[in-house]
Amino acid sequence: MTRLPRIAVIITIATIVLAGLVVAFVPLSQGLIERWSKRDLELRSSLVFRSIRDRVEQEMTGRPADLAPLFERFTNDERILALGLCDSRGRLVVATGQMPQVITCAAVGDNGTEAGRAVRFATFNNSGNRVIVGGYPVGTGGSRGRLLIVHELRFVADRVLEARWYLIAGALALILLAGTLAALTVILLQRRLMKSVLATINDLRDGQPKVLDKPILPPPPVTTEIRSLLRDFREKIRLEDGSPIEWSPKTLHDLLDNELPDTEVFVVSNREPYIHNHADGRIVVQRPASGLVSALEPVMRACGGTWVAHGSGTADRDTVDAEDHVQVPPGSPAYRLRRVWMTDEEQEGYYYGLANEGLWPLCHIAYVRPIFRESDWQQYVAINQRFADAVVREATRPDPVIMVQDYHFALLPRMIREQLPKATILTFWHIPWPNAEAFGICPWKEEIIEGLLGSTVLGFHTRSHCNNFFDTVDRYMESRIDREQASVTLGGHETMVRPYPISIEWPPAAMEGQASVPDCRATVIAHYGLPDDIRIGIGIERFDYTKGILDRLHAMDDLLTRYPEWLGKLVFIQVVAPTRTKLASYATLQDDAIRLTEEINQRHGSETYKPILLVIRHHEPDEVYQLFRAADVCVVSSLHDGMNLVAKEFVASRDDEGGVLVLSRFAGASSELGEALIINPYDIHGMSDAMHRALSMPEAERRERMHLMRTHVRERNVYRWAGQILLDASRLRKRQKVADFEAGSSL
Ligand code: G6P
Repeated sequence: MTRLPRIAVIITIATIVLAGLVVAFVPLSQGLIERWSKRDLELRSSLVFRSIRDRVEQEMTGRPADLAPLFERFTNDERILALGLCDSRGRLVVATGQMPQVITCAAVGDNGTEAGRAVRFATFNNSGNRVIVGGYPVGTGGSRGRLLIVHELRFVADRVLEARWYLIAGALALILLAGTLAALTVILLQRRLMKSVLATINDLRDGQPKVLDKPILPPPPVTTEIRSLLRDFREKIRLEDGSPIEWSPKTLHDLLDNELPDTEVFVVSNREPYIHNHADGRIVVQRPASGLVSALEPVMRACGGTWVAHGSGTADRDTVDAEDHVQVPPGSPAYRLRRVWMTDEEQEGYYYGLANEGLWPLCHIAYVRPIFRESDWQQYVAINQRFADAVVREATRPDPVIMVQDYHFALLPRMIREQLPKATILTFWHIPWPNAEAFGICPWKEEIIEGLLGSTVLGFHTRSHCNNFFDTVDRYMESRIDREQASVTLGGHETMVRPYPISIEWPPAAMEGQASVPDCRATVIAHYGLPDDIRIGIGIERFDYTKGILDRLHAMDDLLTRYPEWLGKLVFIQVVAPTRTKLASYATLQDDAIRLTEEINQRHGSETYKPILLVIRHHEPDEVYQLFRAADVCVVSSLHDGMNLVAKEFVASRDDEGGVLVLSRFAGASSELGEALIINPYDIHGMSDAMHRALSMPEAERRERMHLMRTHVRERNVYRWAGQILLDASRLRKRQKVADFEAGSSL
């Protein structure tokens, strides 16, 4: 507890205790007041007695009846009810009119004994009112008697009541006083606390605590606690990179409106988000299996703008207008797709050759040898230039925001910068960046680095990819690297190099209209003709050698060998989308996977049971999500992967918090999804152990892991990814504007 609430609590408790004591004193006070009042009466009574004693003794031997007027005079005193005189024989010889009937000389006291000489006080009940009678001995010898002085006790009760009210009023006043005191203390301390917080915030913002010349107040009492709280808070914000907000299409849209108003936005990528193909005499739209597309498409739907991409579908030319534009998504257009064309020969060199036989294996450590052909490089340069020209032609302003995607366009940033020097070019490298030695084998490493350094911001998935890039630049280029600011300056142009872990949309569009998990499971079981109680493992990706598909099949083989209890009880559905099939490395992988699946199915299967179902065809997103929802375990065993969005999609599909993710440590996603079962795909035993563990995992643990991963993916969705890049872009644009003013004023 901080000191401020502690003080308030102490004051409150003290007030309550004090008030309690006062209230407890009320019954006690009654006895005290009664005793005190009685003594008061007795004193008054004996005073009266002393003042008339002589006269009484004088008259009682003669004519006692003459005492009556005197006695009546005394009854004018409000505390004296009556007076009377008893003679030596115990008869009431004189009495005032108010003398109660119940009071008799005998009742007041014996006159004949020595004890009778003493004053006696007796209490009587006079028709409901208590009275007290003082019996005073008077006279001597045979004319002895007693003077009776009667007092009403009602005033004592009045006095008790009055005192009680005073006490209660006093207690209330005390509580009020203490409350006011507590409130004042809290207000005072709160003011000091606020001053202290503000001072601490300023100190923390400036990095160092300030030393005041003359402190006006002594050091605020809560500074240490506040400082450490603020530090925790600042650390939290830093970890979340200043974005503790729920990112959605709306926040992204608002960000564009507020931070980058009236800005033209472009995305450039090789793969287009919607492919039109001829099929059975009609045109069908296909959503490609591409991490890049699944990440960027929702962003473009939120931001609007133009997406420039290769028109690769057989019906693409039939669906564009005269400017090669088509509005997408079909049915609910939100942005414009600008298709760029290329011949088969160009595609051969730029896409299959340099991009996918050169740069892809160069950047992925999957032990496939990169191939670099001069002719491929020429095509790569030419296509990059074509895309740069297309963007420049599309731009209607000198300073658009251009989001360049991936290894297909390493030269594009510089090419655009040459024509649109004021453009904000945000380049994102979707695959890993290898270490400097590995990258050094590329014959055009300098050109590629130079091309990328035309960007305003260059993003990678992870910090280690950024560090590899810095090392590579350091090794091969004459440039200035500022690791503190995370930037590289080449030829007077500065490029920020930052990690931006990519993600998926949340909630995913493919979740819309999905059946419940049991229903998805029933559909998949029926589709593949499986027994009702079968356990299902799933793997879904492009048929790529970086995905560790063969290793996963080996792990399945190993699982069924070492854990035979799963024989007949588990089926692994491996869905693969054909990709880059023209390339030998991909064709070989496909053959190997088919052969290995047959072998394993023969070894462990039967007429009716096939442990592995290899499904080679493209699946649309809703089919993929249905399979995810039907699965008990999803295995992502990439040998090397920039991020791997399949892992995040599996997590997003499980709104029932079911299913277990087995994830390669060599996928960027593993640094975010730590609650998955993390594996080394080269360790087959380790992978099959993890699969066994996943299948045997208690429900509570499964749910807890999935819950944490879902929270992470929801918070760090693709809108946040794009938002962070755009926020950095807006900051740099503002800084550039200031620099332009300065340059203008110094002319
Ligand atoms: C990876 C690349 C993307 C590419 C995707 C699909 O995710 O980083 O740029 O779009 O693979 O590959 P493809 O060659 O079919 O476009």
